[in-house]
Amino acid sequence: MSVVFCRGQEELDSGICMKGLNLLGHAQMIELSIGSECGGHGKCGRDRIVISPEDRHKVSPPTAIESAQLSAAQLGAGMRLGCQCFPESDGLSLRVFLPVR
Ligand code: FES
Repeated sequence: MSVVFCRGQEELDSGICMKGLNLLGHAQMIELSIGSECGGHGKCGRDRIVISPEDRHKVSPPTAIESAQLSAAQLGAGMRLGCQCFPESDGLSLRVFLPVR
């Protein structure tokens, strides 16, 4: 059970899923850059990810910071900021899609 980041055909498994670690942190554990420019302070809006539809109930609800950075349509489509989004519990399987750059 872990967080798997999908970019195109590539799948990168973080190997863990921890409630106290945001999804940006999970990516950083495997040295995967997802675009953070503000150090995870919710200011840059660059660490955009999309949670797979079947896994959206497994993560924390959008924060006020995300509501300010992302449109309602983006949030409705599962887009989140990695630094603001946490697994709801340890040991979950989560699939997270990254923009292809
Ligand atoms: S890292 Fe900048 S908003 Fe998340």
